[in-house]
Amino acid sequence: MAFRATEFRGLFYSNIVKRAGINSVLKSIGYLASVFMVFTLLNVPLFAQGFSWPEKPENLQVLGEEYTGRRLGGMMRQFIIGLGVRCEHCHVGEAGKPLGSFDFVSDENPNKNRAREMLRMVADIKGHLAKIDPSGASRVEISCNTCHRGLTRPIT
Ligand code: HEC
Ligand code: HEC
Repeated sequence: MAFRATEFRGLFYSNIVKRAGINSVLKSIGYLASVFMVFTLLNVPLFAQGFSWPEKPENLQVLGEEYTGRRLGGMMRQFIIGLGVRCEHCHVGEAGKPLGSFDFVSDENPNKNRAREMLRMVADIKGHLAKIDPSGASRVEISCNTCHRGLTRPIT
């Protein structure tokens, strides 16, 4: 009798363990799937349209030569978030059209040179900031967003 009870218990527990095992496998699959989804959602709009960040940009006049590929992409993302705009705000291309149809090398869009001057200005401001001894423990990083805060023209 005691033997059978233990056997039964053993069966019961191993069932729970098995189920827990399946559950955690399902959970991990779910987790991996959602991570994959996030990456897909982030990348598809940019990369599925015959576009990839150039490893050899042809017309950088302000950004240093280290701004290639994903690093250049990081800077452009900082621009669109800081100013609340999309690529066509500074580049030649039509809203909603695939990025592969854009001409990113062209300087025809006047906002591109405006943005270049902003990059020079931010570099100057950084020079001034470096001269003060900040009251806080760490320095405040200045970026486009410091002034623009999501606005194309940062009107107070
Ligand atoms: C606020 C303006 C602005 C926005 C918005 C912007 N860019 Fe740019 N982009 C620039 C400027 C300015 C340069 C050139 C930098 C330089 O001269 O150092 C540039 C350069 C580039 C280059 C390099 C082209 C080459 O070969 O010389 C690519 C590619 C690019 N941008 C893609 C994008 C994409 C994709 C988006 C949208 C996700 C975007 N940009 C949004 C201003 C902008
Ligand atoms: C110190 C504050 C400040 C910072 C930092 C700053 N901007 Fe600006 N930006 C301005 C102001 C102010 C204007 C509006 C100038 C005007 O039209 O009189 C402006 C205008 C612009 C314009 C023209 C918008 C239009 O529609 O006329 C672009 C493009 C731009 N900024 C891009 C950038 C980018 C890209 C960065 C980061 C590299 C940046 N700005 C950083 C203050 C700033």
